[in-house]
Amino acid sequence: MSLECTLRTVSANVKYMTEAKDLLKLAAPLAAEVAAGVRKRAADARTAVRLKNGYADPVTTADEWAERELVERILAIRPDDGILGEEGTLVVGTSGVVWVIDPIDGTTNFVYDLPGSAVSIGAEVNGAAIAGVVADLTRGEVFSAAVGGGAFRNDKPIRPSEIAFLDRALIGTGIHPDSTRRQEQAEVLSHLLPRIADLRRLGSCTVEICSVACGRLDGFFDSGLKPWDLSASLLVAKEAGAQVTKLNESPNGLVVCAAPGIHDELLAVVMAAVSER
Ligand code: 2AM
Ligand code: CA
Repeated sequence: MSLECTLRTVSANVKYMTEAKDLLKLAAPLAAEVAAGVRKRAADARTAVRLKNGYADPVTTADEWAERELVERILAIRPDDGILGEEGTLVVGTSGVVWVIDPIDGTTNFVYDLPGSAVSIGAEVNGAAIAGVVADLTRGEVFSAAVGGGAFRNDKPIRPSEIAFLDRALIGTGIHPDSTRRQEQAEVLSHLLPRIADLRRLGSCTVEICSVACGRLDGFFDSGLKPWDLSASLLVAKEAGAQVTKLNESPNGLVVCAAPGIHDELLAVVMAAVSER
């Protein structure tokens, strides 16, 4: 990054720091309370009410309840903001702040009563997250970040691992619901697996990215992810000190998020695997 570009980023961060803290003051308790509400309703809210992209992409009554709750509570306090939600919410606002929400990230885990699901809330200005919260449903952890203010897990600062070698790294990734994409992913994995220590597939992209932020995973990569998968979690990762590369175009919007010591190597291996296909 050039000096001019760095200075521009720093001054943009400073400009939004106060607003970001205010947004976080709203988002952090909201995510934690909605996560508690989802947990309380889990016994009778696990039923899939519809499937979006096959059996690995369900929506439950809890997803629908949580999205309604998030939208109502955000608009009650900030009626001029916009909201984009995974389960269909699209509110066009006038304030310049857009909330990007996933009521439950990792719904398949939630349906199967497995760990790895979260409520995710990002607050964006000009298309960039300035505040973000990921409330893990099973571990009761709340990851949070405001731009320029660092990243936290339950209010304690977090940072990524200090790993320096890809062949010692534990890497997370997702499996796409679409079968054609899975074939492509399998080819990338066959190239990557001999070059890393091991692979984890937790089933919740926000939990995986926050796990990189706090050093529980050394890196993560995936493609085809949606704004609500990335808005809050990538801000948490960046503010924690992880390195993030997000390619908007090909290959399918690849995202690599990793400890700084292995980011470049992981990106190079994934890119080489993609171009070899
Ligand atoms: P979800 O539970 O909110 O649907 C699983 O690998 C991860 O991929 C989860 O974070 C899951 O989010 C997400 N996911 C599910 N369907 C997806 C899709 N069609 N495209 C991209 N990501 C998806
Ligand atoms: Ca979801």
